Amino acid sequence: MKKAETKSEIRRIVSSVKADGKSVGLVPTMGALHEGHLSLIERASSDCDFVVVSVFVNPTQFGPNEDLESYPRNLSEDLKRSEKAGADAVFAPSAGQMYPEPQKVWVDVEGPLTETLCGAARPGHFRGVATVCTKLFNIVQPDRAYFGQKDAQQLAVIRAAAAQLDMPLEIIGCPIVREESGLAMSSRNDYLSEDQRKQAGVLYKSLMLCRELFNSGQRDTSRLKSKIRETIQSCPSAEIDYIEIVRKDTFQPEENISAESLAAIAVRIGPARLIDNITLKP
Ligand code: PAJ
Repeated sequence: MKKAETKSEIRRIVSSVKADGKSVGLVPTMGALHEGHLSLIERASSDCDFVVVSVFVNPTQFGPNEDLESYPRNLSEDLKRSEKAGADAVFAPSAGQMYPEPQKVWVDVEGPLTETLCGAARPGHFRGVATVCTKLFNIVQPDRAYFGQKDAQQLAVIRAAAAQLDMPLEIIGCPIVREESGLAMSSRNDYLSEDQRKQAGVLYKSLMLCRELFNSGQRDTSRLKSKIRETIQSCPSAEIDYIEIVRKDTFQPEENISAESLAAIAVRIGPARLIDNITLKP
């Protein structure tokens, strides 16, 4: 497996692969790779001839009081795991390599896609995500890029940016990988103590109870959200950031579910802000 730290190195690697007529897949990550990331790499390597994993903790998507400094970093382990999952190259640039001067050009997706849920809770977050992904797409020029449904809003934002800016690649969404307790895998789970990790199982439990109610015919989103709220509140250390049910295509909140929707939550447990979601299909 190849390792590149500069844009020119990864460009050279990819252009020689493309000259051989091979397809290229990109898996953008911020490192601290876990089974969730590895599932994207495995999917990419089954679809594409050559897979690039980017490992870059992107400063422009963190708010001033967020965890940019403490975000887990472990490149040597990430290299081993990427290779084992089927990556052909890892692109691990420095912040100076990605942002050689203060960024003045941004990819900013407007409307409910970025104004609801995490967009409301983390101003500027999706602008940073869409901008760094656009930069990565332009640097690597993949045929396909892979994103997890765990960050459902991020996936929708990237899809919108790629479609409206005519980016010449396919965006592929992949299912959420969970721990045995149901907790969605996340690099931020590393912030949790053993006890907090057990308690964090309440997120998935609340979504499962919501689905049960939905399957029994309940379509009123305030009732469905109450079920989630009650369940999470049964866990004393959980602090709710948001509980929302939105249309999956527009991210508009709705009173009654009539189209494919997303129940999405963000909850703080101790030092970690955790997100999760499920799809509700009427
Ligand atoms: P990061 O949080 O490292 O996640 C990288 C990719 O892995 C994202 O597409 C995310 O949705 C996916 N992922 C994380 N946990 C997952 C899980 N449990 N199951 C399935 N997929 C999972 O998301 C980012 O980095 C950044 O915002 C990035 C897109 C790299 C831009 O900086």
